[in-house]
Amino acid sequence: MYAMSRFNRRVILLAGLLVPWTGQAAPWNTLGRAITADEIADWNIDVRPDGVGLPKGRGSVAEGQIIYDAQCAACHGTFGDSPQFVALAGGIGSLKTSTPQRTVGSKLNYATTLWDYINRAMPFNNSKSLAPNEVYAVVAYVLNLNGIVSADAVLDEISLPQVKMPNRDGFTLAHGMRSVHGKPDVHNVACMRNCAQEVKISAEIPPDFTQQMYGDIRAQFRQFTLQDQGAAPSPSTAAGAASAPELLKANGCGVCHGRDQGIVGPAFTDISKRYAAVADASAKLTAKIREGGSGVWGTAIMPPQSQISDVALATILNWIKSGAPSE
Ligand code: HEC
Ligand code: HEC
Repeated sequence: MYAMSRFNRRVILLAGLLVPWTGQAAPWNTLGRAITADEIADWNIDVRPDGVGLPKGRGSVAEGQIIYDAQCAACHGTFGDSPQFVALAGGIGSLKTSTPQRTVGSKLNYATTLWDYINRAMPFNNSKSLAPNEVYAVVAYVLNLNGIVSADAVLDEISLPQVKMPNRDGFTLAHGMRSVHGKPDVHNVACMRNCAQEVKISAEIPPDFTQQMYGDIRAQFRQFTLQDQGAAPSPSTAAGAASAPELLKANGCGVCHGRDQGIVGPAFTDISKRYAAVADASAKLTAKIREGGSGVWGTAIMPPQSQISDVALATILNWIKSGAPSE
């Protein structure tokens, strides 16, 4: 038997109202257009614990190491242990101790989440640039750094969901996110009948608790953004022509370089001084920015910045040539 849902009843009621008004039999057919399969595919990128959503592909630990060393190690450390950014390895078994170390190795319950995260968000300065095979490889390598898969492992859309993460059973719904006055904050059942007429708030998370939960987020991320280092784009910049600081920000350079302060890479004022008397500085720096490399300033690696346009690169190099001024 088909019981008409409340929703269907509403739609039919709505249609009844609209028909005489517009004079058309099915008014919603004329609004907008059907979404195409391609448009859905662009958004439908989530990967589930059972592997639904993973594209076909494969990658080995060894292939992953090459990608990791070139594109991830500068921020996450050669062994995934960088204290400067987020550590990706270690801490397995530490979550219940008084000094929990939360890494993707120790905290995640499904390996597919690691794939999904890296595929969407990493490398931080050039997200969504990795092809599926590269994501499989780098995931294999990060899992190997954690001792979860062996050095000869090859992962693909079938084997990845089968990897058992050490914290698989550590996620539970038996408690709230946090306790407020001794009660969890999330336990409730939606009321479907005989519901209270008036809502009374009987407990709430104190606002200061919410604000302090992660500390000062702005201060924690200051090192990643040019804006917070005092080199915000000047509002007086002529419309249409982006300034060098704006271009650095748009191209993700500020993650590793401050104007007058080094982060992972050198400060632009220092680069400017170093190359002031070098004849073919522009050609050298263009090649370095496009192809990446290391060894001039230290052991940290600058990943290749192939995304940057010729015009943006020229503006940045002129700015470096003129001493990397703050205006
Ligand atoms: C320019 C610095 C930088 C580079 C390069 C980089 N990352 Fe990250 N990564 C970060 C930052 C910063 C975060 C934290 C982001 C956040 O919490 O919003 C992060 C977070 C992560 C996380 C989640 C960590 C967690 O505990 O939840 C993973 C996994 C990760 N990165 C993997 C990679 C991989 C793989 C690469 C290379 C393909 C890479 N990253 C390149 C800066 C970087
Ligand atoms: C993941 C970190 C990272 C990102 C992102 C990054 N760089 Fe670098 N950059 C470095 C490191 C590390 C060095 C030092 C390399 C060396 O010692 O040879 C460097 C060096 C440089 C140099 C000096 C090159 C030399 O050989 O002396 C320039 C110029 C430069 N970067 C510009 C940029 C620009 C422009 C961008 C953005 C399009 C950018 N960088 C993005 C890390 C980064």
